[in-house]
This record gives sequence, C-alpha cells and structure tokens, in this order.
Amino acid sequence: MADRESGGCCRCCFSFIITLGLTSLFMWLSLRADNPKCTIKHFYLPVLDKTLNDSKNSSLIFELKLDNGNKDKGIYYDPINLTFYDNPNRSRLLGNFTIPGFRQGQNKKAKRIETLQVNTSLATARVSPNGSAVFRVDMATKLRFRIMFWKTKRHNLILSTSVEVDEHGAIPQRYQKKGFRLKSAAPEHGGGCALMGLLVGFMVLVLLNFR
Ligand SMILES: *[C@@H]1O[C@H](CO)[C@@H](O)[C@H](O)[C@H]1NC(C)=O
Ligand SMILES: *[C@@H]1O[C@H](CO)[C@@H](O)[C@H](O)[C@H]1NC(C)=O
Ligand SMILES: *[C@@H]1O[C@H](CO)[C@@H](O)[C@H](O)[C@H]1NC(C)=O
Ligand SMILES: *[C@@H]1O[C@H](CO)[C@@H](O)[C@H](O)[C@H]1NC(C)=O
Ligand SMILES: *[C@@H]1O[C@H](CO)[C@@H](O)[C@H](O)[C@H]1NC(C)=O
Repeated sequence: MADRESGGCCRCCFSFIITLGLTSLFMWLSLRADNPKCTIKHFYLPVLDKTLNDSKNSSLIFELKLDNGNKDKGIYYDPINLTFYDNPNRSRLLGNFTIPGFRQGQNKKAKRIETLQVNTSLATARVSPNGSAVFRVDMATKLRFRIMFWKTKRHNLILSTSVEVDEHGAIPQRYQKKGFRLKSAAPEHGGGCALMGLLVGFMVLVLLNFR
C-alpha cells in the first residue's frame, strides 16, 4: 500500500516534470526570434564604370535589403552602421554610412537605397586587369524584437560580406538576383541549440525513467 502510494507520487512528480519540460520547450519555440536576412542587392561605383569614363565621380550607390522572416515578431533597429573597405582584408577604409534606426513589422522586407562618397583612388587601385574588383562591407547594429506586448533587450547584429563588381562598376549579372548576403562570423543560435539539446536530453531521461 505504502509502495503504491509512493509510486503514485512519483508518477505525479514525473508528469509534472514532463509538463514543465514541454511548457518550457514551447515557450522557447515561440519566444525565439530569427535575425533578419541582410543582403547587398545593388552596389555601383560610377568611377569604375568603363562605359561612363568618369574618373572624378566619387559616389557609391548601394541597396541594402533587410528581410524579417519572423511571422509574429517585429524588429526595432538601432542606427545601422555600414563600413566599406577596399578589399576583403579590410586594409583601408573606402567610406562609411549610417542608416537611421527604424521599426520593421513581422514578415516584412525593407529596402534602403543610399549614396555615399568614397575614396576613389583607393577604389580604382583595386581594379584587376579584367575590370573586376572585390570590396568588403561590414554592418553593425543592435536590434530588439517585439514579442506580443513586450520588447526584448538589445542584441548585437554584426555581419559582413565581400562584394564583387565588374567592369561596369556594378554587381556582375550572375550575382544580381541573389545579391551578396551579409553573414555573421559567429555561429548563430549557438545558445538556442544548446538549450534545445539540454531540454530534449532531459525529456528523454524523464521518459526512460517513467517506463
Ligand atoms: C575618356 O575621357 C578621356 C579624358 O576626358 C578621353 O581622353 C578618352 O578618350 C575618353 N575615353 C572614352 C572611351 O570615352
Ligand atoms: C556620379 O554618378 C552617379 C550615377 O551615374 C550620378 O547620379 C551622379 O550625379 C554622379 N555624380 C557626379 C558628381 O557627377
Ligand atoms: C585616399 O586614400 C589614400 C590612401 O590611403 C590617401 O593617401 C588619400 O589621402 C585618401 N584620399 C582622400 C580624399 O581621403
Ligand atoms: C577577373 O580577374 C580576377 C583576378 O584577376 C578574377 O578573380 C575574376 O574571376 C576575373 N573576372 C572575370 C569576369 O573574368
Ligand atoms: C555605430 O556608430 C556610432 C557612431 O560611431 C556608434 O556610436 C555606435 O555604437 C555604432 N553602433 C554599433 C552597433 O556598432
């Protein structure tokens, strides 16, 4: 009798633990948020455009696309710092630009087309004999996610990509559709994955004990 009672208590305890585990799993699944996808869609240096023959023009025109793929979470962007370097190793600064912060709704895409002035002598020095050149773009901002009625704390978003241009000073045809995706040097959601693994491991343990 005493044995059965303690068994019942254990069962109760285990189902409580399972419920707790499942609840935290679902909480985590619904609270986790994906970083936006950020892509350089256009990148044009008139000074490198052989059809223009304009060696004085120091404009750099670029388009940044920000894609919030979260179905139920808005994003608040702090000012977005973009830094342009003359080659993939970031040796010399071409120029920089800051896009003012803004709010992006769930499942929304945003496009920013901007112009800045760059160091043309650095840009032209990078051109290879066939007219192509490779530059580097770094992006740094902080973002908060809006989850239902509250905002998360600020997360760093630090991304980078190489951008290739052809003899027209623009992204070559074959890359135009996709553009150049800005990527993180650090693996994303490392913490999330670890937490998920822990939870799953814990649940398996509980289920094994339960049998
Ligand atoms: C480019 O401009 C320079 C100087 O303005 C001129 O000498 C040259 O012929 C031009 N080249 C082309 C292809 O238009
Ligand atoms: C540089 O080139 C761009 C694109 O062709 C043009 O819009 C801009 O007016 C030019 N700037 C100067 C100073 O000529
Ligand atoms: C462009 O960069 C070169 C090399 O770093 C530097 O000597 C030059 O002063 C720069 N030009 C401008 C306008 O900043
Ligand atoms: C141009 O030359 C560079 C290096 O010299 C090379 O990486 C690139 O693939 C070439 N581009 C084309 C379109 O041939
Ligand atoms: C962006 O640049 C501003 C001004 O230099 C700086 O105060 C801010 O911390 C930068 N933001 C990030 C995320 O690095």
